[in-house]
Amino acid sequence: MKIAIIGGAGSVGAPTAFYLAAQKLADEILMIGGKQQNVLKQHAMDLSTAMSAKNIIIRAGDYQDLEGTDIVINAAGIAQGLITDRMEMLPKNIVLIKAIAAHIKRQCPDAFVITATNPVDPLNYATYLAGGFDRKKLIGYSLNDSFRFREMIAKGYNMKVSRVGGIVIGEHGTAQVPLFSTVRIDGKIVNVAEDIKRSVFQTIPTILRDYEGLRAGRTAGWTCAIGLELIVRAVVENSGIVLPCSVVLEGEYGLKGLSISVPVALGRTGVQQIVEYNLEKDEQERFEIASGLLFDAVKKVESYL
Ligand code: LAC
Repeated sequence: MKIAIIGGAGSVGAPTAFYLAAQKLADEILMIGGKQQNVLKQHAMDLSTAMSAKNIIIRAGDYQDLEGTDIVINAAGIAQGLITDRMEMLPKNIVLIKAIAAHIKRQCPDAFVITATNPVDPLNYATYLAGGFDRKKLIGYSLNDSFRFREMIAKGYNMKVSRVGGIVIGEHGTAQVPLFSTVRIDGKIVNVAEDIKRSVFQTIPTILRDYEGLRAGRTAGWTCAIGLELIVRAVVENSGIVLPCSVVLEGEYGLKGLSISVPVALGRTGVQQIVEYNLEKDEQERFEIASGLLFDAVKKVESYL
């Protein structure tokens, strides 16, 4: 299993390389970087030693080294700076997408591609258009929303997060759709208390600001590494696990021509199935708001490509 991480020196790429190697989910990890070649090469040297006993090849390289790659994680993005909405990054990061999609198409056209740069949904769709990929071989990463959703529910019930399940779909951004209908505690569906729902909706808009307001020059790379490992593991183990990921829809959920997070079953071939949940009325309304916002973003994507 060869995995390539584009943006390998970044706050998402480096922790992801570490964790995928530590979990032995690859025989080779290729780290491709942008301007900071010194940082990239040093990460690769450091990781290569760290993982040397695991017989994993970890190296810094460039796009021509993509040949034979099974999974490409695109975490390449311009430093976000103080943004209030991930969509602000669209004009900056879409410039990278066209070239990256062309490199993947040329060097490893059958790879499973994970878009892990913001704004995830439009950039995943841009990758699909620019590369002409099979939509089932391409997803956008949005699991951090579900991780945070579970933290918020656990806080509301004053319990350990490990007891809580639940997912978020829609846009990986302000129009994310927490599915309270999927919340489980100790594996059992619960009817979430109204005050906890209110608290979740009040908290969601503050998360990005809390991160960016610290002006740390990084994003939630450790959380991304955990979620990306779950996705890579599903592909490597052909598990069929259902996870919320941004995927190009062609009629599912009544939508076509955009990428948006919905539950998908993942396996060796990528997206094995797009799972259509019966959404509650208010969840459906929020999902429609998210899709409307993402259709607007698709128009911008098409103008940029
Ligand atoms: C987050 C970034 C990766 O929500 O968009 O953590």
